[in-house]
Amino acid sequence: MTLHVTGEVLDTKRTGAYRHLTLVAPGVAERFRPGNFVAITLADSARLARRSYWIHQVRPVGGYGPALQLVVEPVGGGGSWLAGLPVGSKLELTGPLGRPFALPKEPVSCLLVGEDHSAAPLFPLAERLRERGCAVTLLVAGRDEAHLLSALEARRSARAVTVVTADGSVGQRGRVADVIAETLGRARAEVVYAAGRHDTLHAVAAAAEDHGAWSQTAVELPQPCATGLCHGCALPVVGEDGVARTVRACTEGPVVRGDRVRWGELA
Ligand SMILES: Cc1cc2nc3c(=O)[nH]c(=O)nc-3n(C[C@H](O)[C@H](O)[C@H](O)COP(=O)(O)OP(=O)(O)OC[C@H]3O[C@@H](n4cnc5c(N)ncnc54)[C@H](O)[C@@H]3O)c2cc1C
Ligand code: FES
Repeated sequence: MTLHVTGEVLDTKRTGAYRHLTLVAPGVAERFRPGNFVAITLADSARLARRSYWIHQVRPVGGYGPALQLVVEPVGGGGSWLAGLPVGSKLELTGPLGRPFALPKEPVSCLLVGEDHSAAPLFPLAERLRERGCAVTLLVAGRDEAHLLSALEARRSARAVTVVTADGSVGQRGRVADVIAETLGRARAEVVYAAGRHDTLHAVAAAAEDHGAWSQTAVELPQPCATGLCHGCALPVVGEDGVARTVRACTEGPVVRGDRVRWGELA
C-alpha cells in the first residue's frame, strides 16, 4: 500500500558528491522492499512534477522507529532544493512506490550492478539476497570517486566487489560496459540486477543474455506524478506475447526484465 505522508528530515550528511538524507516518513519505511522509491513533492508551485528517489536504506532511529535514507545528487531545481533542506524540515512524500526487484527462490549467484546515485537501491537488495543464502557480487561504477556510492559499504555487503570509475580516480578506469562480460563470468551469475544510465542498463541486459543469465533493470525515467495517473513515464517494452507496447515506468516498473526493454527507443 502506498501512503502520502508528511516527512521530516532527521539528519543530513554530505558524502562525496551526494547528500544523504535520513527521513522519518510514518508507515513508508515499514512497507519498503528493495527497488521501491518515494516521490517528493517540491515546495515550489512553479515545479509541479514530483521527483523520484530510491530508498537507499531503512534503519531504526531512536525514538522514531524505522527511517528512510535517500541519496540526493544536488543538481537541478529539485535535487538542489532537497539536498539543501536543513534538519527539522518537513516535506510531502508518497511511497513506497514501484515494482521492487524480484528475489530468486533458490540461493543462486547474483551480480548487482550500480552506477552513480542509481546504485542506491542495490545495497538493501544485497542484504536481502545474502539473507537468502545467495552469493552476491557487486559492480559499483561512478563518474569519479565522488560519485561512487558507498564503496566501503559495498565491501561489507558482498563476496566480491569490482569498482570502476570513468576517470580512473579509484578502481579500474572505464565503464560498466567495458567490464560486465568478464565480471559476469567471474561471478558465475545466474541473476543480474542493474540500476544506472540507460546505455549502461542496455549493455548489462545484453551481456546477461549472452551469458544465459536472467536480468532485472531499474529504469529511471522522469515521473511527473509517479503514481500511474499521468502516463508521462512511458517505457517501451516487448510484452510476454512478443508484442511491442509501452508500460508506465512508475507502476509497471521501474524494475523490469532487461530482455523485455526496447532499449533503442529510450533517449
Ligand atoms: C525511479 C527513480 C529513482 C531516482 N532515484 C534518484 C536518487 O536516488 N537520487 C538522485 O539524485 N536522483 C534520483 N532520480 C532522479 C530524480 O528524480 C530527479 O530527476 C533528478 O534529481 C533531477 O531532477 P531535478 O529536479 O534536480 O532537476 P531539474 O533541473 O529540475 O530537472 C531537469 C529537467 O527534467 C525535468 N524533470 C526532472 N525530474 C522530473 C520528474 N520527476 N518528472 C518530470 N520531469 C522531471 C525537469 O522538469 C527539467 O526539465 C531518480 C529518478 C527516478 C525516475
Ligand atoms: S509518472 Fe505519471 S503515470 Fe508514471
